[in-house]
Amino acid sequence: MKLITLHTKNTTYQMGVNNLGFLLHLYYGPRAEGDMSFLLRTYDRGFSGNPYDAGDDRTCSADTLPREYPCYGNGDFRSPAFNVRNSRGVFGSDLRFKKCSTIPGKYSIPGLPAVYADKEEAYTTEIILEDESVGIEAVLRYGVLVESDVITRSVVIRNCGNDTLFLNKVFSTCLDFPDGEYDLLHFEGRHTMERNLERTPVIHGMLRFGSRRGTSSHQHNPFFILTDRETTEDHGSCYGMGLLYSGNFSFEVEEGQFNQTRMQIGLLDEMLDYPLNPGEEFYSPEAAMAYTDQGLTALSHIYHDLIREHVCRGKYKTGPRPVLINSWEAAYFDFNGDQLIEIARDAAKLGIDMFVLDDGWFGKRDTDNSGLGDWYVNEEKLGGPLSRIADAVNELGMKFGLWIEPEMVNEDSDLYREHPDWAYIIPGRKPVRGRNQLVLDFSRKEVVDYIFEQISSVIDKANVEYIKMDMNRSICDVFTAVEGYQNYGKIMYDYVLGVYDFIERLNKRYPDMLLEGCSGGGGRFDMGMLYYTPQIWCSDDTDAIERIKIQHGTSFCYPACTVGAHVSAVPNHQTGRTTDLKTRAVVAMAGSFGYELDLQLLTEAEREEVREQIVEYKKYQPLIYGGDYYRLSDPLKNTEIAAWAFVSRDKNEVLLNIVSLDTHGNEPTNYVRMKGLKPDGNYQCEETREIYSGAVLMHVGYPVPVIMGEYKAWQLYLTAC
Ligand code: GLA
Repeated sequence: MKLITLHTKNTTYQMGVNNLGFLLHLYYGPRAEGDMSFLLRTYDRGFSGNPYDAGDDRTCSADTLPREYPCYGNGDFRSPAFNVRNSRGVFGSDLRFKKCSTIPGKYSIPGLPAVYADKEEAYTTEIILEDESVGIEAVLRYGVLVESDVITRSVVIRNCGNDTLFLNKVFSTCLDFPDGEYDLLHFEGRHTMERNLERTPVIHGMLRFGSRRGTSSHQHNPFFILTDRETTEDHGSCYGMGLLYSGNFSFEVEEGQFNQTRMQIGLLDEMLDYPLNPGEEFYSPEAAMAYTDQGLTALSHIYHDLIREHVCRGKYKTGPRPVLINSWEAAYFDFNGDQLIEIARDAAKLGIDMFVLDDGWFGKRDTDNSGLGDWYVNEEKLGGPLSRIADAVNELGMKFGLWIEPEMVNEDSDLYREHPDWAYIIPGRKPVRGRNQLVLDFSRKEVVDYIFEQISSVIDKANVEYIKMDMNRSICDVFTAVEGYQNYGKIMYDYVLGVYDFIERLNKRYPDMLLEGCSGGGGRFDMGMLYYTPQIWCSDDTDAIERIKIQHGTSFCYPACTVGAHVSAVPNHQTGRTTDLKTRAVVAMAGSFGYELDLQLLTEAEREEVREQIVEYKKYQPLIYGGDYYRLSDPLKNTEIAAWAFVSRDKNEVLLNIVSLDTHGNEPTNYVRMKGLKPDGNYQCEETREIYSGAVLMHVGYPVPVIMGEYKAWQLYLTAC
């Protein structure tokens, strides 16, 4: 059997081509040498048909072999990664091996986000599969980041025939395991409560997750982990699979009839009917896979490093990023120019670096019922041009940032009145409204061009150094009003390309601009978006206690520097809960930090506290952005204490964060067992000057002081001594 083997520092991935040209998946796991084809065992299985060219060999069946890129139509009745139909409605293909090559460096994907790496850091293996009778080639691309222990995959489909073909399923990656009893970890949620970890055993049949909302969604994050049943944070086997994509996706894990498991991810296949004309190519989004036998924390560290070093780009990739004040929860739509300058003036006094003007500055936008699409400054409301505000903010020594929501239009807007055909509406049907807005057809270049021009002409006239790019509804009523348009099964994919094109244009035109992604908080929190925006507003829920859970779930894939997190007012606007200012700050410091409240309502003592928080955050920012993140509790299960820590790479600096979730009379002492410290070293607490042994902190834990009251927070800075 011809073998194709990929090695990273600690993992090995092996494929084999059998005598009929089937590309088989042989192995993915701890680094190993040799030929793994001994794992294959084939028998004559009833109702598992045989390829014609196997002749009398009734043991060879696509239905039972582990497949590298399973296509529908050649006798594999598990869920396929690929399906195509021709213009007469005949489905299926039989992709067989054609050739394989390897080159130094990491491939990129036109118009789509992809992991990047230097030539010395990665290599690309390309395997071409073909089916001449259909006239199609599938080019499987593997990006191997050796030191990172990551393997990326994406697929290019080529129409090599003479007829138009229709792509109905093009997944990015597929892993077939011959055996094993697995758990699946996935991150479910809703608006204002994103990325709750749920762990479920894989069973015979299929678990399928994804989004048909047009964005990656609040409901299911495009990142999944397959573990052994006994895997924990610190031990055991874990496979991570994440998609660098911000639109409709699907993830499947299926246990087959012989207890084999198939795990795969890619574009949502429902409603996908992508026409591919002769000579054309189609690019799938990229999936990033990682394996570790060291437990969930180690897997998170792999993804954190990958995202920090090989996904995020630009000036702000590694920080430092400005501490900001955002006008949304401070004023909502109810402000004028002078009030904004007042907020900024107050913020400047406290040491805040940037003032962000959120929704409400443009068109006729005093509520969320109108104005989207009209990207001209409401000078009447602001008391002059945007530069009046930006200049005043700059004079205070602060940067100025702005909110936009380019993909949307309100029916009550000049844009809609002029171009009703630019919004997704199916002729003859009444569209679904979300937040009273419709979605612009970003699959059309002229729409993206127009919106980009409008928004950039605003940016060009004021010193805007940060943009928060929002997206506030799910998409339906998908239709494009372009004359002669033939096929609607491509729009949602083309829409996402349009969104990426828009952000990439922002990045190119304003290379020093800090971009923050957002979709009603964390509805588009994915690795695809992080390629364009190094931080994303994590959730519209700013309640510190809820945020602990949201940030906990988020941390399985995404590093703290990508997490937009703000201190807001109490009682909290989403939950009505009251927590201490310190607690809110400790939670928000596990991210890209800011404030989102009316500072004038703070007491003098609270203002002083804010001043100190900002100084502290700036001191800890390199550790928070660049250190290793440790989850020290499971806030979904442990209802007493939540704890997490940042540990520097050299293990000399530690920021330990603790929040009490409950309070009791005659309270027992809670111990927080630390991780990642030097077992043979001692650590000194900066505040108390107490010295603790690293080994003891990890073995028994840090005893959390008992104090009265709910939701108390502790933040300890420890240094090796
Ligand atoms: C979304 C965002 C908020 C805010 C509002 C403005 O909900 O997540 O942070 O920007 O839109 O309308």
